[in-house]
Amino acid sequence: MFKKIAFLIVLASMILTACQPAATEAPAVPAATDAPAATEAPVATEAPAKVYTYADLTLCYPQLGAESDWRTANTASFKETAEQLGVTLVFSDAQQKQENQISAMRTCIQQGVNVIALPPVVEDGWDAVLQEAKDANIPVIIVDRSVSADKSMYAAHIGSDMVLEGQKAALEMNKLLPDGGKIIELSGTTGSGAAVGRAQGFREALNANIEIIDSQTGNFTTAEGKPVMEAFLKKYEGQIDGAFIHNDNMAIGAVEAIKAAGLKPGDIKIVSVDGTRGGFQLMIDGWVQADVECNPLLGPQVMEMALKLMNGEPIEAETLTNETVYYPDNAAELLPTRQY
Ligand code: AHR
Repeated sequence: MFKKIAFLIVLASMILTACQPAATEAPAVPAATDAPAATEAPVATEAPAKVYTYADLTLCYPQLGAESDWRTANTASFKETAEQLGVTLVFSDAQQKQENQISAMRTCIQQGVNVIALPPVVEDGWDAVLQEAKDANIPVIIVDRSVSADKSMYAAHIGSDMVLEGQKAALEMNKLLPDGGKIIELSGTTGSGAAVGRAQGFREALNANIEIIDSQTGNFTTAEGKPVMEAFLKKYEGQIDGAFIHNDNMAIGAVEAIKAAGLKPGDIKIVSVDGTRGGFQLMIDGWVQADVECNPLLGPQVMEMALKLMNGEPIEAETLTNETVYYPDNAAELLPTRQY
């Protein structure tokens, strides 16, 4: 009897064990991190690119100096435009020294500004610092004067066509001295794009019967223009029929020297450049016979381009300012409208 009960217990336990599922057959528990089923997956979308506004823009402007009324107006244009648009302007004054402009640019690069706008005092010697800006992914807009560096070293140039200004000045001199004559040239800063371009254009368009008997720099300032004209008047007494003067501030200095030498308005025909209020006054007073415009109000254009660069929008590599020539006949009428 005992044997029979033991046999039944063993049999029952064998049946129960056979009915247990094997360990490898246990159903898998989905991990909490498992991806949802394909039908539930969100549609993949790219985050929209940020559109920068003027409030995001930090613009470096290492101004070359404060040598002329043109330059003062140019500085005011940048400061006023930045203020109006809400642009952060990193401004410095290099006092007409290239090394000061270069070190101001380096400071801006270290600061990580968005864009640099460079008005170069001279044409040559910018390659190293332009390369540094490029390496730091900071685009550079060349403003006003030109540089000799390869165009691949900077994003764009905005400014005047200095060669054309020189050509326009020569056409005026041709009209003023139809029978030819001897003239002197009071040139801008040696090696500057403005002086080089104006001198080139002037020579290209000047009549063959007009001789440039001398050319000296007055560094675009009234203070340096005056003694240069004094020296010309002494050296070429009674021989000077005309003067091509590269800006109005030097013309102001030259006229002071001409007056002091006892000459009258019109004795020396003068063609100047810029179209500042000072130049207009010299025309009204009869000392200057034509003033070729050079527009300094470049702030709005430069900041618009800087923002485009920040947003990766296409820009023009070269933007030349549309300029005219002013004459004495309506100078008094126009003077009150002049912004600089
Ligand atoms: O580069 C522009 C020139 O620089 C202006 O004609 C002159 O007045 C200024 O100093």
